[in-house]
Amino acid sequence: MARDILVTSALPYANGATHLGHMLEHIQTDIWVRFQKQRGHNCIAVCGDDAHGTPIMLKARDAGITPEELIAGVSAERQRDFADFHVVYDKYHSTHSDENRELSSAIYNKLKDAGHMTSRTIKQAFDPEQQMFLPDRFIRGECPKCGAPDQYGDACEACGATYQPTELGNPVSVLSGATPVERESEHYFFKLADFEAFLRDWTRSDHLQEAITRKLDEWFTAGLRDWDISRDAPYFGFQIPGTEDKYFYVWLDAPIGYMAAFQALVDERADLSFDGFWGQESTAELYHFIGKDIVYFHALFWPAMLEGAGYRTPTAIHAHGFVTVNGEKMSKSRGTFIKARTWLDHIEPEFLRYYFAAKLTHRVEDLDLNFDDFMARINSDLVGKYVNIASRSANFITKRFNGRLAGELDRPELAQRFADEGETIAAHFEARRYSQAIRAIMALADEANAYVAERAPWQLAKEDGREAELQAICTTALELFRQLTIYLKPVLPATAERAEAFLQVAPLTWADLKQPLLDHKIAKFKPLLRRVEQPAIDKMIEASKDDLAAAAAPATEAQAEPKKTAKAENKESDAPTPDDGIIGIEDFAKVDLRVAKVVAADHVEGADKLLKLTLDVGELGQRQVFAGIKSAYAPETLEGRHVALVANLAPRKMRFGISEGMVLAAGDSPHVLAPDEGAKPGDRIK
Ligand code: 2FM
Ligand code: ZN
Repeated sequence: MARDILVTSALPYANGATHLGHMLEHIQTDIWVRFQKQRGHNCIAVCGDDAHGTPIMLKARDAGITPEELIAGVSAERQRDFADFHVVYDKYHSTHSDENRELSSAIYNKLKDAGHMTSRTIKQAFDPEQQMFLPDRFIRGECPKCGAPDQYGDACEACGATYQPTELGNPVSVLSGATPVERESEHYFFKLADFEAFLRDWTRSDHLQEAITRKLDEWFTAGLRDWDISRDAPYFGFQIPGTEDKYFYVWLDAPIGYMAAFQALVDERADLSFDGFWGQESTAELYHFIGKDIVYFHALFWPAMLEGAGYRTPTAIHAHGFVTVNGEKMSKSRGTFIKARTWLDHIEPEFLRYYFAAKLTHRVEDLDLNFDDFMARINSDLVGKYVNIASRSANFITKRFNGRLAGELDRPELAQRFADEGETIAAHFEARRYSQAIRAIMALADEANAYVAERAPWQLAKEDGREAELQAICTTALELFRQLTIYLKPVLPATAERAEAFLQVAPLTWADLKQPLLDHKIAKFKPLLRRVEQPAIDKMIEASKDDLAAAAAPATEAQAEPKKTAKAENKESDAPTPDDGIIGIEDFAKVDLRVAKVVAADHVEGADKLLKLTLDVGELGQRQVFAGIKSAYAPETLEGRHVALVANLAPRKMRFGISEGMVLAAGDSPHVLAPDEGAKPGDRIK
């Protein structure tokens, strides 16, 4: 029976270009949706831009345009990116829409009427120059724990400590460089704890992946806190009903944006009803594909909001990990922070779809895009195996049989076996075990190639009187190719379309597995895909470095750019990701620890905790490092001493200059860690 299924991807923030991290999610979703549609289900996919919040407001202001203009431009660009990667949504909408305004207000009112909202006055950092409250990420200063300079207001990147922005040493507003002051303001809170019993049950009832359920258990143990859902003006968002100058926090109306996008689709399509998918009695399935960093919002706040406001809750949340490139975090300086458009300029989009599919599992794991592996897989699997089956047999049909397939197969039982694999492959796609689906499909492609090699149509073609055999063999090979096309179609929709044109068949569905293609005229074969070569990859990486140069804003000493995007700012600091905090030896090996000799140590004007160290790092030359160790050392006592240095930390721009590494120290005092006698500057610490 056809199922009603609604699928969403997380709504991307409307202030930045699409990159490969986004593409992982949207490709994962699109493959699943295409698979369901191909199986004959009524599967609907919606998405849209997440358009509200402080970063978007400020970015528009900096660009001298309205937020509406900014988000319209980003949305158009995003939709082009998705379309070019063959990612299709039935509706791509925006959280800044009438549907969303109405739904957000209605849900808020329902929650409020049911007693799930409360309000109280809180103290917050305020920028006296910009006249606005500052999100944690827009305040920087020295870490209260380790003294590392230039840290965000919520967490230290050097030591991992989390804290309140008020605890930072020498705090500055990233917007103006002014020292923030504290100000009071009334905020509205959603009482998450009201839903504790419901959530405990919901999070353990097959709606979540196992790793996430485990992580949530920790959050329950820590206690469910009230969630601050309001922000003060100026803010780009929806005004909270019944207030003059309070706005919904972007994360309140973002998931409601899923409903809004669906509502907009309902307005276009007579066959859909809003309640059929969102009403409490709905029998439709509802799935959210998201990244592991936003689980907290989707697995706690969102089901609680839906439950509290009288809607159905999600069938399941499907979280994925992050993309790494060649084993490392995507990096602008290495050219591995690759934008969707840069990829499209250099490499076939379906190759990314295929590679992601070949590595995606149902688990919350990071996915590494390794370019050597990428090239090998594309060329071997797609060009060498899949396309090869058709290219080795098509020309005989065209030239010797006037494009007509035989009326019978040479090996019907082989074709039957291929068709019989359909349910196993479908089960893998259904359960998001794409890598297993691809493995099963490629095992069949190997079999098909072995069959063609064994029957060697090119030999038969040279012999007289073996025409019928030749035609039946090539027909069998093309039938196997057709079946593989059905299996690969969710992943390679454009290639499948070219294959359909070549085979001269209607769009292939799963049901077409059963009926082999016989006594049928096909078109002349044209190469379906071309190999990927190293120069294309090199050029793309070069161009990604260029992108950075073009985008780099000249940050002044006093006004550093917030290093992270809206994503970081909009993240609740109490929403950890479901990692276990354990690292492997390979992660540790990435840290380049060196012995360094202190050549000079100086006070830094205006900094309470910092010393400026000039270090001799042997073969690595001299480095300047700001270290939060002033409370424990007079500068002159350090000169000539050996210290331990993290030498491959990305240089950090601070108010006082650039810091090019980190000196290791222990305790609150703190004591620098010193290598034993005999160590020389530049020696590796292992
Ligand atoms: O993390 C993000 O990129 C958010 N813009 C996702 C929002 S998902 C949904 F809730 F809208
Ligand atoms: Zn710290």
